Amino acid sequence: MADGGQLQPMEFVPGPKAARALRDALGCFATGVTLVTIESAEGPMGFAANSFAAVSLDPALVLWSPAKSSRRFGHYLGALHYAIHVLPQTAHGMLARFARDGAGFDGLDFARNADGVPVLPQALARFECRQHATHDGGDHVIIVGEVLRAACQPGEPLIFAQGKYGGFSPLG
Ligand SMILES: Cc1cc2nc3c(=O)[nH]c(=O)nc-3n(C[C@H](O)[C@H](O)[C@H](O)COP(=O)(O)O)c2cc1C
Repeated sequence: MADGGQLQPMEFVPGPKAARALRDALGCFATGVTLVTIESAEGPMGFAANSFAAVSLDPALVLWSPAKSSRRFGHYLGALHYAIHVLPQTAHGMLARFARDGAGFDGLDFARNADGVPVLPQALARFECRQHATHDGGDHVIIVGEVLRAACQPGEPLIFAQGKYGGFSPLG
């Protein structure tokens, strides 16, 4: 092989014909997994999201991005308060509950915080937020939240990369 057996990176211009390629390229960026919870007119809701990111330390701001196409988008955009749970590996099995037509909070042990938002005890970290700003983000909306209260406990983070779940192995 002219390239000495090395695989060449695939280059593409984002567009309708390269939707899969763009997803695959974005999936190379390993993230954690969060569950964003709200109390809605339809009861407690949880939304699995890996678009979570830290924004600012002072003031304490974080963001996540729900898709405009989500059935629950209106509830999340309109929620003044919400909680972002950073999931441990042990919560992997719980994610199916919050996929479309999953059991959601049914039969699950949870509490409500001072703002009435459902909060789960399993989170490695929890950020209880008040909506601070929203920004258009194409087919998503970027929701920035002010962290009113936070909690953190030891545990192994759940990692999501290249469409798969796994764990984190420190290098040395
Ligand atoms: C690990 C993981 C991360 C996800 N991250 C996001 C995200 O950041 N934003 C988003 O809109 N949907 C994300 N989704 C998909 C949503 O959780 C949800 O299933 C999808 O938007 C369909 O929502 P609906 O049932 O309200 O229509 C993610 C799903 C998984 C499993």
